[in-house]
Amino acid sequence: MKVIVTGANGFIGIHTIRSLLERGYKVTALDIKIEGLKEFSGNKNCEIKEMDIISENFKSLIRMGDKVLHLAAIAKFSTAKASPQRAVRVNVEGTLNIVQACIEKKAERLVYSSTGSVYSLTAPVPIREDAPREPTNIYGLTKKMAEDWIILHGNQLPYVILRYGYIFGKGKDWGAIGAFLRRLSNNQQPIVFGGNQTNDFVYVKDVVKANLLALESTYTNQAYNIGTGRATSIRDVCEYCIKASKSSLKMKLEPARVFDYPIFVYDISKARSLLRFEPEWNVLDGIADMVKE
Ligand SMILES: NC(=O)c1ccc[n+]([C@@H]2O[C@H](COP(=O)([O-])OP(=O)(O)OC[C@H]3O[C@@H](n4cnc5c(N)ncnc54)[C@H](O)[C@@H]3O)[C@@H](O)[C@H]2O)c1
Repeated sequence: MKVIVTGANGFIGIHTIRSLLERGYKVTALDIKIEGLKEFSGNKNCEIKEMDIISENFKSLIRMGDKVLHLAAIAKFSTAKASPQRAVRVNVEGTLNIVQACIEKKAERLVYSSTGSVYSLTAPVPIREDAPREPTNIYGLTKKMAEDWIILHGNQLPYVILRYGYIFGKGKDWGAIGAFLRRLSNNQQPIVFGGNQTNDFVYVKDVVKANLLALESTYTNQAYNIGTGRATSIRDVCEYCIKASKSSLKMKLEPARVFDYPIFVYDISKARSLLRFEPEWNVLDGIADMVKE
């Protein structure tokens, strides 16, 4: 069974490809940058393609029955905000190009990596999949638009939309956890903005598991929240980073930023019951594992 992974060179892509190859899948790993994919270059089951998802040639990679895991994106809020046209081009038009290629070449399914940023800031918590999708930033808007293109074509192309929570793990050196650990390793105090706001922090190893389940699930044409179903405050996350780093430094508190969700936590019962997704890692153990590796 072949899986075409877009955004292969990214944080989630590399972790997922390792797992796909371990489980005997054939993989086509596609990205505009491929330097992080060297570890797969000798593997006969992994074909590496340096290609833009907007390219007309994308469809030449697909054979009937292949599965596509679409991770490629402008994935940072700040980059999408700085260059909205590029974010629309990659996240929306790129996804549409993939959808059309999948339909034309009769791909078996498309698994799409979406985000909690598609939800309204005032969505009732814990957030269910049927909560209002009213993004309040450019990144979230482009991801919602991509979702809508996929859903619109659902009668021609089976899909699974995964709305990941706040993912952390080795290879993601940006975002709060990356920043805390980096400062701690440089013997600097980690800086916490606000502190009480919560998020649904999910370890990358659990996200990989969700990706694999989504590639095989019979429950297609669905969106699923992928998190732990547990809210953790950013202050606690910072404490866990200090503990895992065995540091004696204390966190430095700064005022909260306006764009943070005050409380963000998922209801993951749909993923539990239909995808059979069960997160194995809590935040403390995930951070400790990440630091240890
Ligand atoms: N990391 C998270 O916390 C998180 C949370 C929710 C959703 N997501 C989604 O998961 C997916 C993967 O995220 P990530 O953290 O691995 O991001 P990442 O930035 O590490 O990886 C994205 C990859 O896409 C590639 N890419 C960008 N434009 C491309 C193009 N035009 N053609 C081909 N490749 C292109 C980049 O080179 C990069 O390797 C993204 O779609 C993101 O929106 C991530």
